[in-house]
Amino acid sequence: MPAARAAAEILHRAPGFRARIGIVLGSGLGGLADRIADAVAIPYTELDGFPMPSVEGHAGRLVLGHLGGQSVACMQGRVHAYEGTGLDALKTAIRALKLAGCDTLVLTCAAGSLRVEVGPGRLMAISDHLNMLGANPLTGPNEDAFGPRFPSMTDAWDPDLRALMRRKALEQNIDLVEGVYAAYPGPSFETPAEVRMLKVLGADAVGMSTVPECIVARHCGLRVVGCAVITNLGVGLGEGPVDHDQTLRAASAAASELERLLVGFLEGLNEEDGRRS
Ligand code: HPA
Repeated sequence: MPAARAAAEILHRAPGFRARIGIVLGSGLGGLADRIADAVAIPYTELDGFPMPSVEGHAGRLVLGHLGGQSVACMQGRVHAYEGTGLDALKTAIRALKLAGCDTLVLTCAAGSLRVEVGPGRLMAISDHLNMLGANPLTGPNEDAFGPRFPSMTDAWDPDLRALMRRKALEQNIDLVEGVYAAYPGPSFETPAEVRMLKVLGADAVGMSTVPECIVARHCGLRVVGCAVITNLGVGLGEGPVDHDQTLRAASAAASELERLLVGFLEGLNEEDGRRS
């Protein structure tokens, strides 16, 4: 099984190290990995079944080490449904993190806002999602060792972890909103009519990723928390067209704020553990 082989390789590369928190960094957000101490970087090409991202802004390596007092395994780059290679590699990567010791997954992404009052540069904690991809990574025979055939998606985005993220944002004076993230297939951006539709359906932000990782993670029992960086207003809500360069530029501009929030969040997890024990 590729996930087990990849997990064994992860454990082998950093003897004595066991990651507790998996992190997936989205478009233009890879800089967080550079802040990881005692870093061991493994290219995805050396991890069985891992994805090879083909999109600019996605490095394609797993970085192990310490961040905010936690042991982390950070995916610097992801694959998207629109790359056409299927969702198996994504599933393998998330399951490998689980088998390598992670109990929590932090998902980040760039997204377009569907709320005009929440503009570029703002951070949005993901409270729920709409899977509009027309695909589900769990399609096919169920692998019972990882989870049930029909996993629940109630509270897929962990309310306690989100509350901690909110607290840390408040403490650090970071402006954080909350909202529902819709995953749309891409790679073409949405039409203005599709943006209006997504708003009517209850979405607050739209992107082309993140939801498959959440589904696989919940299936195998990982707790999930997520934060989107708003890089633009949804097509038709702002002025002019949206493009990928703009996404990368806006994500980089907001990345330091997201990094501060995530480091605070990881430190907060330690404080919570201390309180519980
Ligand atoms: N739509 C889809 N994906 C995105 C967008 C958008 O407006 N912005 C960043 N990723």
